[in-house]
Amino acid sequence: MKKAEILKLLRESGDYLSGQELCGRFGVSRTAVWKIITSLKEEGYEIEAVQNKGYRLKASPDLLEEGEIVSRLGTSRMGKNLICLPSTGSTNVDAKKAAEEGAPEGTLVVTDCQKTGRGRRGRAWESPAGCNLYFTLLLRPSCRPGQASMLTLVMALAAAGAVRELGLDAGIKWPNDIVLSGKKVCGILTEMSAETDYIHYVVIGTGINVNQEKFPEEIEKTATSLKREKGEQIARAALLASIMAHFERAYETFCASWDLRTLLPAYQELLLNKDRPVRVLDPGGAFEGVARGINDSGELLVERPDGTLEAVYAGEVSVRGIYGYV
Ligand code: BTN
Repeated sequence: MKKAEILKLLRESGDYLSGQELCGRFGVSRTAVWKIITSLKEEGYEIEAVQNKGYRLKASPDLLEEGEIVSRLGTSRMGKNLICLPSTGSTNVDAKKAAEEGAPEGTLVVTDCQKTGRGRRGRAWESPAGCNLYFTLLLRPSCRPGQASMLTLVMALAAAGAVRELGLDAGIKWPNDIVLSGKKVCGILTEMSAETDYIHYVVIGTGINVNQEKFPEEIEKTATSLKREKGEQIARAALLASIMAHFERAYETFCASWDLRTLLPAYQELLLNKDRPVRVLDPGGAFEGVARGINDSGELLVERPDGTLEAVYAGEVSVRGIYGYV
């Protein structure tokens, strides 16, 4: 895609690039370059054209569009097959359909708006247009089905890492909510198609409140956005590319052992529940204790009042903070 390549080059150079340089690089005519530049300007890119110097990219619009995303991706597999939709029902549904049709590992479905966004435990995920990130990554790991739930923690680590690079103090509420100032900013919904001992595919859907300013009353007290916390607009495509880069590295590490042993220190560091009192809503009976960390399998270790340590599995229980959201 020439448009993405030209954008990438202009962005990476940060300086003027002559029309001739761009033509030579991509094997297209000067008119073709001019046409691409014109269409980029129409989309909202601020491109300065100076005689004898060339073109310089001054600012990019906050678009979640193929060219913008591709021009920012630096991964070798994650997001290389990109399905970019202006609006959809749920990117998890789209990713599962793509998986059934044979889409490769790393396929990324991104949208600007979801009509029927889905959250965990059958809840809805409000997905207004023009402000947030909603995306689903398709994986085909060759681990056992029981190990796939750890991938949610791997994505949480990647998303938290990328948010922290924006200068925000993101932490993780086990297993996979990203939290800023005690409020949720990101949720992850992982779904899997598997047989007893074989995974067909896993889809990891992530929703991040990026530039949303107002929240419905029901979640106003527990939800926030990156813009609210940072006090400035965040470029969604750049954040998405950064998450993909973080995830690609973390996934490679995970695949080496099919557990979290190597990623454990990084995860524990960000785990907000650590040493905090929690209520474990176990189908077999709720109990309270103090969260002590996670184990190699991503289970939360909860110390009961009698001092025994219980490993709590994410798929079965939900954990609530006793003195607040975390
Ligand atoms: C949660 O309840 O915390 C999980 C929310 C997951 C939302 C994301 S948005 C992209 C993907 N598509 C969906 O329908 N859900 C996930």
